[in-house]
Amino acid sequence: MRYEVIDLERIGDEHGALSFMEAGRTIPFEIRRIYYIYDVSVGEVRGHHAHRRLHQAMWCPSGSVEIFLDDGTERSAVMLDTPERIVVLRPGVWRDYVFHRADSTLCVAASDYYDENDYVRDRDEFRALVEGEYWGP
Ligand code: TYD
Repeated sequence: MRYEVIDLERIGDEHGALSFMEAGRTIPFEIRRIYYIYDVSVGEVRGHHAHRRLHQAMWCPSGSVEIFLDDGTERSAVMLDTPERIVVLRPGVWRDYVFHRADSTLCVAASDYYDENDYVRDRDEFRALVEGEYWGP
């Protein structure tokens, strides 16, 4: 599998809750970029791509976003509807994500800066890359 779902610890009491992730521990790569996607209409689908070398971790601190994942051998869906869940993606995973609630924010930590050349946005190219196992580690 080229992705992993991690349920974070929840440190909570009557004053609220706290969860944390640590680079090099929870997130198994060095973080060079953080971005977030918000103001997305309910039912909107984004993504439609894979990455050649980029590692990413995604989480949804509020709202609900469903991530559909396909690494060429296995498909699955991960519901990010709690701030305690993160999904860690290695290179070579096609992802589509659908926003289920208007207040949803999808946060992403990435192992490198933005580079359009790292994107695979064509399904046929994705299939060819899967067959050649042409992904970064
Ligand atoms: P994209 O990654 O395609 O978003 P999604 O997969 O959610 O649909 O990015 C959307 C646009 O934003 C695209 O034109 C590239 C730009 N962008 C940046 O300039 N910097 C970034 O760090 C990211 C993630 C995207």
